[in-house]
Amino acid sequence: MADARRDSPGEATQSFYAKQQLINAARTTFQHLAALIKNATLYPESHPTLLASSEKFVVMVRELLAERREASFYLVGGELFFETHSVPVDQSQSLLMEQFLAREIGGITFKPGLTQQETIAFAVLMNKDPAFFVNAGGTAAALEQAGISHIEIHRAIIVDKKTGSALKNEKKASTDFMSAVDTVKDMIQSVHLDKAINMRRMNTTVQSMVDDILENRDAFLGLTSIKMYDEYTFAHSVNTAILAISLGTFLSLNKNQVAMLGMAGLLHDIGKVSLPHEIVNKPAKLTDEEWAVMQRHPVEGALTLSDVPGVTKMAMVSAFEHHQHGTNRGYPQIEGEPHRHLISQIVSLADAYEAITAARVYYRSRTSPDQAIRILLKNRGVLFDPILVKAFVNMIGLFPVGTLVKMDTGEVGLVSHQTRDLLRPRVLLLSRFDGSERETGADVSLLETAGGKPVRSIIGTIDPNTANINIKQYLD
Ligand SMILES: [Fe+2]
Ligand SMILES: [Fe+2]
Repeated sequence: MADARRDSPGEATQSFYAKQQLINAARTTFQHLAALIKNATLYPESHPTLLASSEKFVVMVRELLAERREASFYLVGGELFFETHSVPVDQSQSLLMEQFLAREIGGITFKPGLTQQETIAFAVLMNKDPAFFVNAGGTAAALEQAGISHIEIHRAIIVDKKTGSALKNEKKASTDFMSAVDTVKDMIQSVHLDKAINMRRMNTTVQSMVDDILENRDAFLGLTSIKMYDEYTFAHSVNTAILAISLGTFLSLNKNQVAMLGMAGLLHDIGKVSLPHEIVNKPAKLTDEEWAVMQRHPVEGALTLSDVPGVTKMAMVSAFEHHQHGTNRGYPQIEGEPHRHLISQIVSLADAYEAITAARVYYRSRTSPDQAIRILLKNRGVLFDPILVKAFVNMIGLFPVGTLVKMDTGEVGLVSHQTRDLLRPRVLLLSRFDGSERETGADVSLLETAGGKPVRSIIGTIDPNTANINIKQYLD
């Protein structure tokens, strides 16, 4: 992953940290909200514990409100967003998200003037049975009746039965994704501490990833578009594995080979663990000396893996080969032409796509997923095998799942599934992300026509990771 950093502008480091801070603040706020709502089931309203947790939450909301008119969280496609930023969640927060969805809540806005009393009343309300809200005439009416005026609720996206089951799959995929991240974290720690890697856990993780992808490739691929800022090192390996497994299944490789791809993807950068931390995690451009050190990671990785009992030899080979390209353009350089194994080539392609789209997150470089695809296309036959690139593009689509797109109707959509036409995926219509309209729309197919003409066509993409983006400007 850090390979992309070499060419990335150093001045963007600042904004990367600013954005990371914002996402962390949003995440902490949501954690406090989850704690508050949980505590409201355990303690009476005037209990010090409940008061303390509401105070913590209000303090965090005020911090977020220091730089904006209002603070909005959205639940879209099983993910949590703060404004346009995807926020990583853990188990307790995803339970809260389910609790919200059961009450048809798809978003919440907190406004200046929010009191502790209101937050406690809100927490009590959120623990009421979903039927309570139906009797109260909806969640918004229930809030009003409870005297809450600085919290606004947005309706959940209306999903039909089919989409509903897709969301359920996404939920499972998202839980499995998080546990894969934990497995990688654990593995990296083991290597650091010179402890044995838990191969059984690694195998189970890979197996459930393969199963998830076979069941619903789009749901799992969508997760790779979510970059987890503070956990990036781990998520990079998981994303690479997901992309590699997906391409393997797309190419109809057998289950054994697909599992190998998963393992190779998870382990490809393990060599970075043996390099100095300051170099691997350096947010700015690497010096030539540092770059030379960084280039040792494929060899270090192969050496580390040669020692691990139970690890497939293929993982060792692909760790060594994943940066060797075409006519000996990559590293480590070898005598003659590298003849890389198919598994290494797939991992290498998945790794490159992941790194390019991640660089977008870190450096605000203007590389959107569709541009990343174009970069791969440009390099087919040069750095990557042309047939593999073609297959990769057919699988990911020109507008990968998770891309925000602008349409000729003036609408903005979030790509949710691929269809047979690379230019016409299914999208979730989002009439807004910034607070002026409350509705989020349905999941529509861009294949839809009326009078022989397409109802909607994509005219461009929007980078949701640009700091302080106001999507409304694109809507006007
Ligand atoms: Fe990598
Ligand atoms: Fe690498």
